[in-house]
Amino acid sequence: MKNAKITIAPDFKIGDIDRRIYGSFIEHLGRAVYGGIYDPKSPFADEQGFRRDTLKLVRELEVPVVRYPGGNFVSGYKWEDGVGPRENRPRRVDLAWSVIETNEVGLNEFSDWAKKAGTDVMMAVNLGTRGVSEAVDLLEYCNLPGGTYLSDLRRCHGYADPHGFKLWCLGNEMDGPWQTGHKTAFEYGRLANETAKAMRDLDPSVELVACGSSGPYMSTFGDWEATVLGECYDNVDYISMHRYYGDAEGDSASFLANGADMDMFITDVANICDYVKARRHSKKTINISFDEWNVWYHSQEQDKKLPRWVRAPHQLEDVYDFQDALLVGSMLITLLRHADRVKIACLAQLVNVIAPIMTSDTGAWRQTIYYPYLYTSKYGRGTALQTLIDAPVVETRQHGPVPCLDAVAVYNEERGELNIFAVNHDLTEDLDLNIDLRPFGAPELVEHIMLHDEDLHAVNTESAPDRISPQLSTSSTLTSSHLTAHLPHKSWNLLRFKI
Ligand code: AHR
Repeated sequence: MKNAKITIAPDFKIGDIDRRIYGSFIEHLGRAVYGGIYDPKSPFADEQGFRRDTLKLVRELEVPVVRYPGGNFVSGYKWEDGVGPRENRPRRVDLAWSVIETNEVGLNEFSDWAKKAGTDVMMAVNLGTRGVSEAVDLLEYCNLPGGTYLSDLRRCHGYADPHGFKLWCLGNEMDGPWQTGHKTAFEYGRLANETAKAMRDLDPSVELVACGSSGPYMSTFGDWEATVLGECYDNVDYISMHRYYGDAEGDSASFLANGADMDMFITDVANICDYVKARRHSKKTINISFDEWNVWYHSQEQDKKLPRWVRAPHQLEDVYDFQDALLVGSMLITLLRHADRVKIACLAQLVNVIAPIMTSDTGAWRQTIYYPYLYTSKYGRGTALQTLIDAPVVETRQHGPVPCLDAVAVYNEERGELNIFAVNHDLTEDLDLNIDLRPFGAPELVEHIMLHDEDLHAVNTESAPDRISPQLSTSSTLTSSHLTAHLPHKSWNLLRFKI
């Protein structure tokens, strides 16, 4: 048994948590839209063809915002294909994923779905094959009340009220050679700036996200952010970050310590933003939209065998194991530890495609990663506190020595709640965690929720949907405001207190 200590106090704050860090993502990809959220032939379909079983789980997650419609898909997308009478909508090739897009669902239907799911829409414009003009057209169609050609067209399509989408991505992963219409940093930075200016001329209330790097491993990482922001700093609000962690390749110690890698990535991007700020003598701070993050690798081999040019194949259908849930828990903790800079984040994605929710003809179920996402979204609202961790280290091949404990405390004074999220990613040793909670007066321990399993590769499937599910731990004690919590090896934990 090892020992660890956390030091926290209500006045030592990182920052207020923007609820949008619990966002997610639906791309026209695989069975995310067709079969995932929309399936008119399903017994679960509502009057619009949306799956009720999916909606129930999405609502349970309290997802505040969903990015749409891509992803790589958006870089070849013509939004006009997806509006107006369904029977007139074209079938198109989608070059990003080598499939057929039928356009049965477009932005109006997605907006309806988002309302039912209780979430906002984060729209992306195509800056791959398209430019300023089409982005402004899309904004006019979506956000102007009426009296212009495109806003009246929306009204003709049955949407009298403007959608009022506030958050917009200026393209997607434009640094990636795989992207349709891939650009150099300078080309993209100029285009992002001109698009941002024109969009703001039309609707000054929009918030705009410029594309950062697709990951820290990109050869252009760093220079990309500095060059892009050098061009569009004054006209955008956020820079995007994307990060997927791949195969552990038998090295679970390194895999589970990837929170440390993500932490460094965020720090680096924030520093680059501030370098451009200093260079420009600007008073404005660019914040981060971490709009794609997750584990992604399980499906890569099977995806190579899929047929091309079909509708909604089973693409990117990762079946997540318990180990992935632990890392997703750590990634959420890392986002919270940067609450001062990360204002938006999207778990990529939401349904069927590298997703916490899976569907089949017989229903929807929760993957392992659903649970850390659920509880962090539910209980991680308020103020992130500086969380000083004194814990033994684990040696890892990829990251060197890393503390075995990832943790963050979230204080919600209004609700009288203190919630501590903690992952013990030591593979063999349990941890006794001590916290002096006297700075919070005389708190009560409400519950200790835990995800723990000896088998890192246990999964939830259609036939065994609850193989990995949360348990209540009874081994934590609170005496005179001193907490001793028992965190088993390989465990994700939530300690909830009433203040
Ligand atoms: O989320 C899957 C894909 O990952 C997205 O389309 C793309 O932006 C990223 O490379």
